[in-house]
Amino acid sequence: MIKLSYDVNDYRKQIEDLLSPGDVVIELGCHTGNTSKAILEHNVRLIALDNSPEAAEEMNKLDLTFINADVRLHETLMEVFKLIQGCDVLAIDLGGGYHPDTVFKVFYIWSSTFKPKHTIIRNRGLVEFYNSVTESLGDYESEGGFLDSYKDSGIPPQIKEFELWTPMPKKSTLE
Ligand SMILES: C[S@@+](CC[C@H](N)C(=O)[O-])C[C@H]1O[C@@H](n2cnc3c(N)ncnc32)[C@H](O)[C@@H]1O
Repeated sequence: MIKLSYDVNDYRKQIEDLLSPGDVVIELGCHTGNTSKAILEHNVRLIALDNSPEAAEEMNKLDLTFINADVRLHETLMEVFKLIQGCDVLAIDLGGGYHPDTVFKVFYIWSSTFKPKHTIIRNRGLVEFYNSVTESLGDYESEGGFLDSYKDSGIPPQIKEFELWTPMPKKSTLE
């Protein structure tokens, strides 16, 4: 099952509704652990990641595995893959308004590697895209938390587009 939200409280509720004791959970973009603490109430194994400098001090106080790294990088994915080769729940919040294209690529990489039963994504652009689709042709549907049609692709290599991204051009750069 794949769930989307924008409001952080909706995101937390969507995660908590899906958790069962003993689940293995990967949380991408945990910041200082407000959602992590709610997840840990459910007696799960949690691996949480964030690349912000302020995350480590708070996260290291919690009963989980914290990795202070950029989740877009293949080496980060491999670090987690050495610990676990699958998960029950994948939660992704890289900042609610954060680039939907990046969030979707992160979802694609992590979900096709760890094949979660459920993925919950907090991202405004993806909610807007989902709510705006008025027609979809082709009967592709996924029952798990990953895209079924890519399930046998193996661990994807570093996605090239991450290196190609540029910030929005600014008028000042033309002068
Ligand atoms: C809105 S905060 C997450 C809040 C958290 N889900 C909560 O409920 O408290 C978004 C986090 O994503 C992290 N983030 C954004 N891009 C990232 C990346 N490429 N790798 C790792 N963390 C990233 C940021 O450092 C930030 O802490």
